[in-house]
Amino acid sequence: MPLREKIAKLEEKHKLAELGGGQARIDKQHKLGRKTARERVYDLLDPGTFVETDKFVVHKTTDFGMGDKKFLGDGVITGYGKIDGRLVYVFSQDFTVFGGSLSRTNANKIIKIMDLALKMGAPVIGLNDSGGARIQEGVESLAGYADIFYRNVKSSGVIPQISAILGPCAGGAVYSPAITDFIMMVKETSYMFVTGPDVIKTVTHEDVTMEDLGGAMTHNKKSGVAHFTAEDDEQAMMMIRELMSFIPSNNMQEAPVKPCTDDLTREEPKLDTVVPVDPNKPYDMKEIITSVIDNAHFLEVQPYFAPNIIVGFARIGGKSVGIVANQPQMLAGVLDIDSSTKAARFVRFCDAFNIPLIVFEDVPGFLPGTTQEYGGIIKHGAKLLYAFAEATVPKITVITRKAYGGAYDVMNSKHIGADINYAYPTAEIAVMGPDGAVNIIYRNEDEETRKKRVDEYRENFASPYRAAELGYIDEIIYPRETRKKLVEALEMTKNKSESNPPKKHGNIPL
Ligand code: HXC
Repeated sequence: MPLREKIAKLEEKHKLAELGGGQARIDKQHKLGRKTARERVYDLLDPGTFVETDKFVVHKTTDFGMGDKKFLGDGVITGYGKIDGRLVYVFSQDFTVFGGSLSRTNANKIIKIMDLALKMGAPVIGLNDSGGARIQEGVESLAGYADIFYRNVKSSGVIPQISAILGPCAGGAVYSPAITDFIMMVKETSYMFVTGPDVIKTVTHEDVTMEDLGGAMTHNKKSGVAHFTAEDDEQAMMMIRELMSFIPSNNMQEAPVKPCTDDLTREEPKLDTVVPVDPNKPYDMKEIITSVIDNAHFLEVQPYFAPNIIVGFARIGGKSVGIVANQPQMLAGVLDIDSSTKAARFVRFCDAFNIPLIVFEDVPGFLPGTTQEYGGIIKHGAKLLYAFAEATVPKITVITRKAYGGAYDVMNSKHIGADINYAYPTAEIAVMGPDGAVNIIYRNEDEETRKKRVDEYRENFASPYRAAELGYIDEIIYPRETRKKLVEALEMTKNKSESNPPKKHGNIPL
C-alpha cells in the first residue's frame, strides 16, 4: 500500500472513531439537550491538551450477533489532558455506542487510565453516560465493573476522583461514581438509579418517573448522593474545572495557590452586629462566610442537601480552605443525621487532601426525636466527631453563638484537636440553653424564680468567658476582625505536622 494511502487509512479510522455510534444517534443525543462524549471532553480540558488513548479498541463479543456490530473506541473515550495547566485523566462514556454500556474492552480502557493516574498522582474525572453493564457480555462486563470499583477504592484518598452524571446512568454506572469524591449532575438530562422505573414497578408496584426516581434534584436534595447541579453539560464541565482549582492533584501535594487580591487585614464592621441579640432569632451564616473569604468567592458543596450545615471551598490569602458551618437559618443549625454525614464526608476529603478546615459554629445541639434516634443519629453524629478528631490538617473554629452540649464537642472543639478556637462575644458555650437547663435543675421552683434563674444562667454560663477562663477558647475576637484572625491562624498553622498512630485503618461508625 503506498504511503499516502496508509495515511489516508489512518485518517479514515480517526473519522470513523469520532463518529461513535453514528450521526443519527449523535443527533438524538443533541436533541435531548446532551452533548456527545467527545464534546464534553473538549469542554472540560484546556484547548488542545487532550491526548486520546485506545481510540481504535473494539469489543471481542460474538454472542447475540455482536460479531458484526463493532464501533471504534467501543463506547468510551479515554485519555488525559490539562485543566488550568494541570494534568488530569478522563474517561467519557459514549451513549451513542450501545448506550455507553460497559464491555470488557471498554472497562480495560478505563482501567488503563486509572492505573496511569494513580502512578502519576493526577486526578481522574469520569464523565458517565451509560446504561450500565453491557447486557450482551454478561459476567465479562461485571468483571470490568469490579475492576473499576477496586481501583476507585485503592485510589480513594490518594488522587481526587470526580464524576459527572450526564445521561441515564444505571446499575454499575452509578456505583463507580458513588465511590468517587464528588458527583455532578445536570438538571433534567441526567439520572442515577440502581434499578430503573420499570423494574421498580414489577418488584414494588410503585409508579415513579425517571426524574423523581433519580433526577438531579432527587440526588442533590433528597438522597444526598450528588454534590453539585448544573443547568447543562457545558456548565457541568465548567463547574468541574472550578472544583479542580480548589484541590491538589494528589494527597502529597497542596492545593493550588492563587494570587490574592483581597486585603488580608480587611475589617467588616457589619459582622459586629450580624448575630441577633435574641438567641432564638435566625441569621444567615453565609453572610459571615462570604465576608471573610477572598473576594466572597465560595464554592458550596451539596447546597440543597441538609442545608442546616454548610460545607464548601473558599480561599483565604489565596490558599484553599474547607469550610464547615452550622446554618442557624435552617432548622436552627441543628445537627441531624443528614447534616452529620454530609459534613463528615467533606471533612474527610479535606483532611485526605491537605486542605485546612475552618468551622463556623452556631449549633443548639443534636435534633431530638424518634425519627432521628431510630435512624441512628448516635452512629451518624459520631461520624462527624470521628472525622474532626481524625483530621490532622490545620483546624480552626469560630464560635459565633450557640455551642451547646455534645455538639460543642463535635464541632471541632479544642478537645478533639482543633488548633485555634475563637469565639465571638455573642458566643454561648454550655451544656444546654438557659431555659432547658433551668427546667431541669430548678424544675420544682415557681415561675417567677425560674425566670430569675434563667437570667442568672444566661449571665453566668451562656457566654464564651467560662470557656475562655479554662483555655478551651484561645481568644474572644471582635467579629469585624474575623478575616484578619483567620489569616493569622492559617499562617501560624501552615507547617503543622501531626499524624495519627500507625494502624491499618480506623473503624469509623458506618
Ligand atoms: C447494552 C444497552 C444497554 C446495556 C442501553 N443499551 N443499555 N446495550 N447493554 N446495558 C442500548 C440500547 O439497546 C440502545 O441501542 C441504546 O443503548 C440506547 O438505549 P435506549 O433504551 O434506546 O435509550 P433510553 O430510552 O434513553 O434508555 C436508557 C436506559 C435504558 C434507561 C439506560 O437503555 C436501560 O434501561 N438500559 C438497561 C439498564 C440496565 O438494566 N443495565 C444493566 C444494569 S446491571 P440502539 O442500538 O437501539 O441504539 C449492572 C450490573 C453492574 O450494571 C452492577 C455492579 C454493582
